[in-house]
Amino acid sequence: MSDRRPIMPFRGPARGRAKVPGSKSVTNRALVLAALADGETRLEGALFSRDTRILCAALRELGFRVETDEAACRITVLGLGGRIPAAKARLHVGNAGTAARFLTAFLCLAGEGRYELDGDAAMRARPMAGLLRALEAAGATFTAPDGGRAEGFPFTLGTSGLRAGEIACDASASSQILSALMMVAPLAAGLRIRLGGSTVSEPFVGMTARMTAQFGRPVVLKDGAWTCEQPGAYRAPGRYAIEPDATAASYFLALPAVAAPGSRIRLSGYARGGLQGDVAFAEVAGACGASLASDGGDAVAGDWSGHRGGDFDFNAFSDTFLTLAAIAPLADGPTTLRGIGHTRRQETDRVLAMATELERLGVRVEPSPAALAADPALDRLTIHPSREAMARASAAGPVVIRTYEDHRMAMSFGILGSHDLHGDGRSWIAIEDPDCVGKTFPDFFSALGALRGGFVRVSVDGGAASGKSSTSRAVAAEQGLMHVDTGSHYRAVTLALLRAGAAPSDAAGVRDRLAGLRLGARVVGAAALVELDGRVPEAAELRTPEVNGAVSPFAALPEVRAFLLGYQRSMAELALRGGFAGVIMEGRDIGSVVMPDAEVRVFLEADASVRDARRAAEGVQDAVAQRDRADASRATAPLVCPAGATRIDNTRLTLAEVVAELGRLVRQARDAG
Ligand code: CDP
Ligand code: CDP
Repeated sequence: MSDRRPIMPFRGPARGRAKVPGSKSVTNRALVLAALADGETRLEGALFSRDTRILCAALRELGFRVETDEAACRITVLGLGGRIPAAKARLHVGNAGTAARFLTAFLCLAGEGRYELDGDAAMRARPMAGLLRALEAAGATFTAPDGGRAEGFPFTLGTSGLRAGEIACDASASSQILSALMMVAPLAAGLRIRLGGSTVSEPFVGMTARMTAQFGRPVVLKDGAWTCEQPGAYRAPGRYAIEPDATAASYFLALPAVAAPGSRIRLSGYARGGLQGDVAFAEVAGACGASLASDGGDAVAGDWSGHRGGDFDFNAFSDTFLTLAAIAPLADGPTTLRGIGHTRRQETDRVLAMATELERLGVRVEPSPAALAADPALDRLTIHPSREAMARASAAGPVVIRTYEDHRMAMSFGILGSHDLHGDGRSWIAIEDPDCVGKTFPDFFSALGALRGGFVRVSVDGGAASGKSSTSRAVAAEQGLMHVDTGSHYRAVTLALLRAGAAPSDAAGVRDRLAGLRLGARVVGAAALVELDGRVPEAAELRTPEVNGAVSPFAALPEVRAFLLGYQRSMAELALRGGFAGVIMEGRDIGSVVMPDAEVRVFLEADASVRDARRAAEGVQDAVAQRDRADASRATAPLVCPAGATRIDNTRLTLAEVVAELGRLVRQARDAG
């Protein structure tokens, strides 16, 4: 079971309101400022993602009251005016750059404290030294595990409050270093931060400055140093609204470039004048052809007028460079992206990662991945249009894009893969480790899927070994559908009932045991797997001779079928929320009972002797014909060819031929919808 997600191209236009989560940068700054404020702050529209959870958990670990209401996107923080309750703590910052830098500076406000901090392997390699040296100058100590002076994670931080005076700050590698120091400045009266040289991503420094003012203690640039002229605890604003994430919005600005004409995507809170510099992406995208209008307080991303290349400096809004880079192979000329050297030390070496994966698709990039790997100082990328090369690279099936634990790689290539490159709706890009989007946008694929009309439901019914599972699995991968094997549901329930000592002849006993049974679902790759007691049973456990022998008798009981019906029907919703282009469900009664209104219904058949031979070839002991007889003759939801279903006899068809036929039916349904 590989954890990769095939992306289904948009065959039609992209339409609807994009569900963009709250900004990570604003959420994590607001959490720090709220904790340093005097009183309670309610953050509305907050982002719930890996990075913000890390910061919430750390604040709790330090003794702060942080209450979260995920459904309402609300976080309530009780600030303590600069006091940090815990004098000792062990904190892990994962690979969250903001949490890493902000917490380090924040902790230095503690009077006498000793804190052990660490991060993921990737975070250990990210720039911290500029921050540690600046904080040392104000009184903190950073000790590496070998007892020496630390350059980055892991370290033990010794604190004794922050001294007044001027400190020099090297934020050339990351603007978060300067932002971290600015946020603690009001609580360290007389602290002045002088930037040595320049910093990257300057708009983020502006965001920090504006947010310190929103929390009542403006940190300003005066005589070349950042300082707070009226120091003291931040003032809790009561309620604080987090802006929707402008970087995340960039994907939806780009989507119309790859979807069919007629696209119209509504975005709320995406406008100049907010806190986020990444809205400047709209200008670059506009130069390439993007259209952005405003309508009733929303921004509306519409069809692109062509897709031009160009030469752009992304230094100030570099998180969005991947969005444009990923779709650049579809442009009508080369695209050059500059000012992105610092992104080579972010979640991953983003320039190298982008170049490597574009090359995997057959795209020509300059410098080449080999040249980039050899020279860490290279800070730009040129991408040449390469439709034909990408079509060749994906002719035999989806190209698997590696994501390097970088959420932006996954999302950017998710947009590229939304283009119908082959013109037949075939998936041509699969994203490895798609869950890495959880860093900032856990529902990205669902939000993307929601903009696609025509969610398709496919029912596949047939006797044992008629090819349902193998066919459905392949169609799911090719068409971006979520695969549900309902036979495994009956098998899992049979396993549980056998373990509990129930017998099919004792309906009352079965009812009792079902009452205590809880089924879950886990999406792995393109399949929703049944969970029993929080665990996905092994395939072998579900196909023992005992289960093979008992499954049909149990499945004939109305109480067992009623128990599973609601669960199985909820799978379409799970697929929709998971951002799949539809669901393909296989079993005996899917087209007749579970999803009688499925857009595509098929019934697979094969001669009994062929089916016996197939099972025997799999080395499985199973009385196929006998199970079929039991399944077809039961009173409740018997195995039948559902009305209106397409019969496919695959006695003499290869799997590939059956999959092609189903693919055709799915596309037809999509086009009709
Ligand atoms: O893989 P194979 O076709 O041998 O069987 P399966 O799909 O794993 O299903 C096992 C048994 O579950 C079937 O023989 C049926 O008795 C029952 N079943 C059912 O009654 N209704 C379904 N929708 C799926 C399976
Ligand atoms: O799920 P179901 O019991 O209906 O069948 P399966 O497990 O998908 O298929 C049973 C066996 O038949 C597998 O080994 C398949 O590879 C094989 N098969 C085939 O040879 N030709 C087909 N057109 C479909 C399946």
